[in-house]
Amino acid sequence: MRQIRIFDTTLRDGEQAAGGALTLEEKLEIGRQLTRLKVDVIEAGFPSTSPGDFKAVETMSREFRDVEIAALSGFRENQLERTWEALKSAERPLLHTVISTSDIHIEKQLRISRRELVELTGRTVRFAKNMCPHVEFSAMDATRSDPDFVCEVFAEAIAAGATVVNIPDSVGYAMPGEFAELVRYCMNNVPGIDEVIVSVHCHDDLGQAVSNSLAGILEGVSQVECTINGVGERAGNASQEEIVMALRTRADYYQAGTRMVHSELFKTSRMVSSYMGMVVPPNKAVVGANAFAHSSGLHQDGMLKERTTYEIMRPEDVGQGHSKIVLGKTSGRHAFRAHLEEIGIDLETTDFEAVFLAFKQLADRKKEVSDRDIQAILEDQFHQAFDQAYELDMVQVTCGSNSIPTATVRLKSDDGKVLKDAALGTGPVDAVYQAINRIIDVPNELTEFSVNSVTEGIDALGEVTIKIESRGRTFTGYGADTDIIVASAKAYVNSLNRLLSILGVEAQEDARAAVAAGVAS
Ligand code: KIV
Ligand code: ZN
Repeated sequence: MRQIRIFDTTLRDGEQAAGGALTLEEKLEIGRQLTRLKVDVIEAGFPSTSPGDFKAVETMSREFRDVEIAALSGFRENQLERTWEALKSAERPLLHTVISTSDIHIEKQLRISRRELVELTGRTVRFAKNMCPHVEFSAMDATRSDPDFVCEVFAEAIAAGATVVNIPDSVGYAMPGEFAELVRYCMNNVPGIDEVIVSVHCHDDLGQAVSNSLAGILEGVSQVECTINGVGERAGNASQEEIVMALRTRADYYQAGTRMVHSELFKTSRMVSSYMGMVVPPNKAVVGANAFAHSSGLHQDGMLKERTTYEIMRPEDVGQGHSKIVLGKTSGRHAFRAHLEEIGIDLETTDFEAVFLAFKQLADRKKEVSDRDIQAILEDQFHQAFDQAYELDMVQVTCGSNSIPTATVRLKSDDGKVLKDAALGTGPVDAVYQAINRIIDVPNELTEFSVNSVTEGIDALGEVTIKIESRGRTFTGYGADTDIIVASAKAYVNSLNRLLSILGVEAQEDARAAVAAGVAS
């Protein structure tokens, strides 16, 4: 059975998704989870484009020893040097560089000749190779390029020392049959291709990213580039969980597998969804809430008689198990800690006392606390712990028919002040947000608001994910509580904390001045 390398680009191409920007802490948390998932390569960022990406790549290169760390670079020498600077302490660095090969990109964007492009490829790869032994070359927009020219450019890259050549469908244009043909053409016509790793990187503009990636595997590629939940530019990248589970479930067909710990897939999906503020649709393959739900009578009947009648994978295979914690509100620390260990929670990076307290508070209000509840508590804790300028201390709302929704909010600031205010609104959530706005006066617009229930039942935890926009940037917020008004308040305070931390003190001062001048909302 061939082993396919999973090159995870959630933290680079995935993070390029509109409104999906992650903080350094979130990138590191996701990176740690990717190492538990045992992906082969983590593409940690694009260091020459921002100090944040530089820091993320540098930190992961130092911290994560058991995985290849890749970083993307443009072809200019100063970009390659800066990328290497961030990457050089990695145990297994992979310097990834990219140049477009389609005529439309060459003529309209790069404005050079094909000959000059081949020379540029050789120069770029040689320069990269002088710093890093492991170099990946990507032919951007390969699927809209002349296949002979792609082969010529790959041949030059390999001659210059590239150890990985990547065939991207950058704009999600190819159909599986065509993509397979291109891969086959490269396999048969590039001198030296047998000596290097051949990779595919597909986007989902026409919904074919996973099919195209799997078509590439059938043609013999040994690396697939993909993201958790398929997040990424525009319609996103190929979805990692779908590729991994297709290979596992249909090993008979693909004769290929991965070394991934697939039981970590669901947890990883949840983490990426919550940190990026991108809710996973319930019908999403493998990780959607309904992916293992059987509702029609005929299917339920089959399932009761024999699970395999309608189930090709088990929920536990991807970590979607529904084990109910046997602990209740009388349970002690010791048993709770043991259970966290049992379900794979990393206690070294967890504030155990805070999680335990939240568990006890939940167990007081909810009959059964499931592992999914515990996961939501952990996500909530992580979000609330992030660079907290303000913490929600209390929220109280009155609302109902024939009444004006009114909210009172009390926040604690990180310098120990207690701040309170009240406001009216069009509904209870609006009233809470108006009251918070009176305390944290940063102009912003709420662009997305979604509430999900973590588990079934009237006493379920509610998760609120929001997006706010300020100064042309988007910030996500997350909160979980059995009371969705409290969860909404937490999500809003969380998004404002992120905004303040990312935009900095200057932005706060500008924002206050704008409010004072009556410019802002
Ligand atoms: O889509 C693309 O072409 C890319 C390259 C950098 C591989 O993301
Ligand atoms: Zn891409």
